[in-house]
Amino acid sequence: MKRLLLVLLFLCVAEEGWADHAIQPIPRSIPYEKAKAELGKRLFFDPALSGDGTVACVSCHSPETGADTRPFSLGVHGQQGHANAPTVFNTVFNFRQMWNGAVTGLKEQVAMPLHNPIEMAMDRKKVEAYLRARPEYARQFEAIYGHPATFPDLSDAIAEFEKALITPDSRFDRYLRGEIELSPDEREGYRLFKRLGCITCHNGINLGGNSFQKMGLIHRYRWREGFPDRFSLTRKEADKNVYKVPTLRNVALTAPYFHDGSAATLQEALRKMAHHNLGFDLNEKEIDKLIAFLKTLTGQTPAILKAEGKKP
Ligand code: HEC
Ligand code: HEC
Repeated sequence: MKRLLLVLLFLCVAEEGWADHAIQPIPRSIPYEKAKAELGKRLFFDPALSGDGTVACVSCHSPETGADTRPFSLGVHGQQGHANAPTVFNTVFNFRQMWNGAVTGLKEQVAMPLHNPIEMAMDRKKVEAYLRARPEYARQFEAIYGHPATFPDLSDAIAEFEKALITPDSRFDRYLRGEIELSPDEREGYRLFKRLGCITCHNGINLGGNSFQKMGLIHRYRWREGFPDRFSLTRKEADKNVYKVPTLRNVALTAPYFHDGSAATLQEALRKMAHHNLGFDLNEKEIDKLIAFLKTLTGQTPAILKAEGKKP
């Protein structure tokens, strides 16, 4: 009898072992410098910063979701990129940037798409010449930085804008703060998320973005050369198909999924995730409940983007 009780106790702990504090709500606002962020916003939307004048950051990171609806983004001269563009919303909370975590800081990251020959294909000199030649930019850079525009200033302004791209007040965050209750399906989905082990990789403030994990931990996922996995940086066999765990915030809006954009729907993404990374197949009911939970992770559009619509 005692043994049975112990087993029951263990099962209860195993099920609810991941307490609410494994996931933290996004703060309603975080500090950033407004003037820099507004300048960064202009730069983020400006296609003149690309080699052929057609591609801005926003071409691949949409104002609705911060992500791209295409499996692979198109850069200058219609060239196809090498990975699905992750969302830039809430990316300020990620421990590293890019699928393979190649860079740590947002400021450092900016040079990557700008210099990438497939994405924006611009060099530092051309960018600086353009910013100095445009009177409005020239004035703004001078006013904020106290000297003619430089590449590091541009990176600084865009990074400041990215800090403002947070999506607070999702239903889930409001639940975590004790402000609302979840519906029975959402609650059951959250319970499954913990019980099935999703939370072992998708946790923290972004439900992801804080560790590297293998895609295909249990059942192998096909590996192809050319994707930005950890292997592409380290050349270690064990790093093949290892990626930064993506955030699940706003995930209901950011299809297609995975580094290769291979899952067109959330259903498909969950099926593959459970199969490859947990080693079992989900049934339809579990998928529906998990999706009900994942939908509670949709937050408010970042205030800095909403301001646009409010102008008279
Ligand atoms: C042609 C499409 C394209 C353009 C233009 C583009 N990006 Fe990206 N962005 C991507 C892709 C694809 C990735 C993922 C690449 C990787 O991880 O190797 C990415 C990754 C990122 C990340 C990392 C997010 C994370 O969670 O790891 C940030 C931040 C980012 N881009 C910001 C920008 C900024 C700022 C600009 C403009 C200066 C920009 N991007 C222009 C396609 C694009
Ligand atoms: C062992 C760690 C691990 C576990 C467990 C895990 N995931 Fe993931 N998850 C990842 C990694 C790594 C990726 C990125 C894979 C890729 O792009 O190839 C990912 C990607 C995803 C995506 C796609 C996100 C996007 O923007 O592309 C969703 C949705 C997802 N996981 C949900 C879940 C759910 C729900 C569970 C539980 C059923 C789960 N994950 C369990 C590591 C994990």
